[in-house]
Parts: sequence; structure tokens; C-alpha cells
Amino acid sequence: MPKVRVVKQESVGTGLYKMVFESPIDLKEKGFMPGQFLHLRPSESYDLLLRRPLSLCMADVEHNVLTVVYRAQGEGTKRLARLAAGDVVDVLGPLGHGFAAVSGDRRSLLVGGGIGVPPLVELGRYLKKQGQSVISVLGFQNKSQAILLDEFAQIGDMIVMSDDGTIGERGLVTGALTEDVLMDVDRFYSCGPTPMLKAVQATMKVFCVPGFLSLEERMGCGIGICVGCVHEISQKGELKYVKTCKEGPVFPSEEVVFS
Ligand SMILES: Cc1cc2nc3c(=O)[nH]c(=O)nc-3n(C[C@H](O)[C@H](O)[C@H](O)COP(=O)(O)OP(=O)(O)OC[C@H]3O[C@@H](n4cnc5c(N)ncnc54)[C@H](O)[C@@H]3O)c2cc1C
Ligand code: FES
Repeated sequence: MPKVRVVKQESVGTGLYKMVFESPIDLKEKGFMPGQFLHLRPSESYDLLLRRPLSLCMADVEHNVLTVVYRAQGEGTKRLARLAAGDVVDVLGPLGHGFAAVSGDRRSLLVGGGIGVPPLVELGRYLKKQGQSVISVLGFQNKSQAILLDEFAQIGDMIVMSDDGTIGERGLVTGALTEDVLMDVDRFYSCGPTPMLKAVQATMKVFCVPGFLSLEERMGCGIGICVGCVHEISQKGELKYVKTCKEGPVFPSEEVVFS
């Protein structure tokens, strides 16, 4: 299994960590897509059967290193948080289908909620490099959970919302999706908790803005074998179940069915 060295690990908020590690693949040669994920396990943890899926937040192709930003909540992520520079981590990936950024667009909107915002950083950088203007609408519970704001500020315009008003405007991300904000937007890209994705999907449908949603299904194998990550989608009027780890985690918004 691909074992790589941790380059850096730091705390970036209450219970939140940013970990930089060597890429298990040659990024220059093999490439990657913003929105793909890494499947990680602290290398000493053979008792932890399942890996933990974390989104690729940033990729440094020159130095061949990857960054993830994550919340330490259960046993697996708490163990990852204990790793320090020089420790070994077992990493599969980048896996799955990421965001298919559409060339020819002039302005894109990124909508992220909580620990769903990390994959939007690499995507925003990519869109900016393509010459697009980017606006990010980011929502957090409170100031101590607000992450990656410097990175998003470098990408383009940014609106921050928080549940308690301790940072940005008080309210949900959908509160910021007004006609003024959406006026020139060609496409949106969103990642966050399922209730947020559902609300974003409904709002963007009203404003007729096409886009993509990144789903956070629970995962087992991460490579299409266990069928533990299926989600219902609708393609050409036909309902079917797809494996989020293989065919996703990113899907066109209009295809995603929420129960
Ligand atoms: C494609 C994808 C990208 C993700 N990106 C990030 C990210 O960038 N940052 C971040 O903090 N979190 C991310 N998550 C959620 C993260 O994978 C879970 O929080 C984590 O696996 C929980 O593991 P744990 O050890 O903390 O909890 P445990 O309670 O030990 O987890 C038990 C089991 O449930 C699974 N599980 C629990 N919660 C989730 C969940 N929400 N989604 C999927 N599997 C879950 C675990 O894989 C494990 O098998 C992502 C999830 C997916 C599917
Ligand atoms: S996680 Fe096993 S099939 Fe998707």
C-alpha cells in the first residue's frame, strides 16, 4: 500500500487540522482533478479497517505534495490528527471524479459549507488560472470553524456567512445567493452538508444556473467494490443508483436526487 511521509500538520481551528503530505503519485505525470479525494489511514493503525475519505484541498505539483483540511471527530480522523512531520501515512488516490470545470465560462460561483469547503480551494485556483472571475460563498457554524479564508480571498470575491454571526453575516449560505450575487454567474460548484446541498440545488434551479454538487456519502473501500456509497441519481429521466466513490463524488446538480 502507498505509504508517504507527512510534511506538516497544524491546527487551523477548533478540532480542525491541515495536513500536508507527499503525493502517492507523480502529480505532474499522472495529473489530478479538483474535487477528487484521498483515502487515508495512519500507517500504524491496522486495527482501523477502513480508510477515511478526505478531499484534495490543495496540490503543489512542483513539490509533489498534497494538502487536506479535516475535522477530527471519530477514531480515524483523531489518529490522523496525532501524526506529525516525518510520520508515515497510508494514502490511496487521488480517487473518484472531480469537478469538470467548463471552459468558456466567465464567472463561477463556489458555495461551500463547513468542512465541505476544502475541495473548492483547488477548484477556485484552477478556474482563476483559466481566466475566470470567481466568487465564493462560504458558511460556517462560527468563527472558530471558519477555515481557508486567506486562500479563498486570493481566488476572488468572497462572502462569509455564519450561523451565530461571529464571522461575516449571520445566516445560511443560501441567504447570500441573491439575484445581485448570481447576476453574472455562468456556473456553480458546491460542497457541504447534505441539507445545504439540497437548499443550494433548489435555489440555483430557481435562478436557472447550472452546476455541480459534491456528495459526502459514507465510504468503505473507496474504489468501487463494497457498494457502501451508493446514491440515487436521475439521468435522462431514468432513476438509478451510482457508486459515489467511482462515479462521483461530483455530479451535475440536476442529476442528484435527495430523498
Ligand atoms: C468524498 C468525501 C470527501 C470528504 N472530505 C472531507 C474533508 O475534506 N474534510 C473532512 O473533515 N471530512 C471530509 N469527509 C468526511 C470524512 O470522511 C468523515 O468525517 C470521516 O471519514 C469520519 O471518520 P472518523 O474516523 O472521524 O469517524 P468514525 O466515526 O470513526 O467513522 C466511522 C466510519 O464511518 C465513515 N464515515 C463517518 N462519517 C462519514 C462521512 N461524513 N462521510 C463519509 N464517511 C464517513 C468513516 O469512513 C468510517 O468508515 C469527506 C467524505 C467524503 C465521502
Ligand atoms: S466506497 Fe466501496 S463501492 Fe464506493
